[in-house]
Amino acid sequence: MDAPKVVMITGVSSGFGRAMAVKLASQGHKVYGTVRREVEALPGVTYVQAEVQDEASVAAAVKAVVAAEGRIDVFINNAGMGIGGPIEFTPMADAERQMDINFMGMVRFLHYVVPQMRRQGGGRILCFSSIGGLMGLPFQGFYSASKFAIEGYCEALRLELRGKNIDVVLIEPGDFATGFTASRKSTLAPEAYTAYPTYAESLKSIEHDEQSGLKPEFLAEKVARIVACKHPAYHYIISTLEQRLSVTLKALLPQSWFAAILASYYKLK
Ligand SMILES: NC(=O)c1ccc[n+]([C@@H]2O[C@H](COP(=O)([O-])OP(=O)(O)OC[C@H]3O[C@@H](n4cnc5c(N)ncnc54)[C@H](OP(=O)(O)O)[C@@H]3O)[C@@H](O)[C@H]2O)c1
Repeated sequence: MDAPKVVMITGVSSGFGRAMAVKLASQGHKVYGTVRREVEALPGVTYVQAEVQDEASVAAAVKAVVAAEGRIDVFINNAGMGIGGPIEFTPMADAERQMDINFMGMVRFLHYVVPQMRRQGGGRILCFSSIGGLMGLPFQGFYSASKFAIEGYCEALRLELRGKNIDVVLIEPGDFATGFTASRKSTLAPEAYTAYPTYAESLKSIEHDEQSGLKPEFLAEKVARIVACKHPAYHYIISTLEQRLSVTLKALLPQSWFAAILASYYKLK
């Protein structure tokens, strides 16, 4: 392996974050993982407290890693969550929270990480989007919107950082079995279920796809390769072949055909 890198990962208490922290620490990297609650110790992983909705806590977490190591070679923005439900019935507070955690949480970290990488002469940033950041998913509209926002921000940031030796890479997972399903928030009025009678069945099939999906360790292996490679691609769809194919179909098919495929898949009328 090349020289060990200082890797900072957000949200290592479960799922992808935990699997990436375990994998990268096992390869000898100096891994710092953010958490916001007590978690079991992982060998080779140093925990840093951070609530992504709180800018002061984000700033302190980045400062702590830089104080300990003098640099951050790789920053992985992974922390996130999803809400479910028809857009029409989503309470404003839930919509704002979704955007604040997934999108603004990343913005808050990069506000402190990018200048550090520029000062140190380079680095690599991996941001977790989703296949839901490449197509609007029914009943996950605000989740998709938060990931589309990440896509747009990262495309712009990558251009602005040209010539500064900082790579910006988007990670777009398909369905994986993590803590994501159990932590999905859905605080809907009962009327939502009568106005959108297909929602309950769609949600069941979304949850089934996630929980029968790939294991986070599969993604961690791929991410370890992205961390190690000399010239990473702009984005990586990490999923089953079928889910990768859906992205290709969206690009190739007339929009109405693709919408019909998605509607049938999600059991919409
Ligand atoms: N699983 C999938 O199928 C899938 C597919 C595509 C993309 N993704 C993306 O992958 C990323 C990781 O998700 P996961 O599947 O590994 O889910 P997960 O097991 O639920 O892990 C999410 C992590 O984010 C942390 N987190 C959530 N809200 C936070 C907040 N406000 N402040 C600080 N930390 C917070 C959680 O901490 P706590 O334990 O304290 O809540 C946890 O460590 C997310 O960005 C998600 O959108 C997941």
